[in-house]
Amino acid sequence: MKFFLDTANLAQIKEANELGILDGVTTNPSLMAKEGVKGQAAVMNHYKTICEMVNGDISAEVISTDFNGIIEEGKKLAAIHKNIVVKVPMIKDGVKAMKWFTDHGIRTNCTLVFSAGQAILCAKAGAAYVSPFIGRIDDSGWDGVLLVEQIVKIYKAQGFKTQILAASIRNPNHIIRCAEAGAHVCTSPLESILGLLKHPLTDIGLAKFLEDAKKTA
Ligand code: E4P
Repeated sequence: MKFFLDTANLAQIKEANELGILDGVTTNPSLMAKEGVKGQAAVMNHYKTICEMVNGDISAEVISTDFNGIIEEGKKLAAIHKNIVVKVPMIKDGVKAMKWFTDHGIRTNCTLVFSAGQAILCAKAGAAYVSPFIGRIDDSGWDGVLLVEQIVKIYKAQGFKTQILAASIRNPNHIIRCAEAGAHVCTSPLESILGLLKHPLTDIGLAKFLEDAKKTA
């Protein structure tokens, strides 16, 4: 399973990249706003910086909601760097636009996916990635990972090539469960990735080894 970082924060991207386990980055307008990136030129420049930092796919989201607008915006985003994947919302014009991008060699990531039916449409439109939003489904009182499991099953049965990119990750257990379910990619906040490191027995064991090592010095 590939590890993407779900952020527009350059310091966190640098930190994850230096760990050597980063395969890509996803962003969205909320994450951009959180970093104070303002204006179209600044947004485009921010994407360019991320592409130069990370050797992997970088999802850049359109904010248009009509077919022509999505196409124009997506073409500009795709022109920033070869690793840009145009992130398109799961709406009717979005599906139409994803098919257009597929036919014109531009890769897409379908965002805001909350059902198996939506995931089937993404695959039919030829999206490179489908992004089921695990944490937001959990927030609504259901189990988001069950949706990932269902999409994995459907895509296998149908031979769909779209990669399942588990999104809206809130904790390390989400990452573990998505890996178990067979997601191709998990996009997570840095905190959830670093959470995978932690185990009290590791800390206790290391303290003891270091203590005993003094006896051999
Ligand atoms: C996906 O690519 C989105 O950026 C993201 O995972 C949304 O997560 P949230 O529910 O934490 O906002």
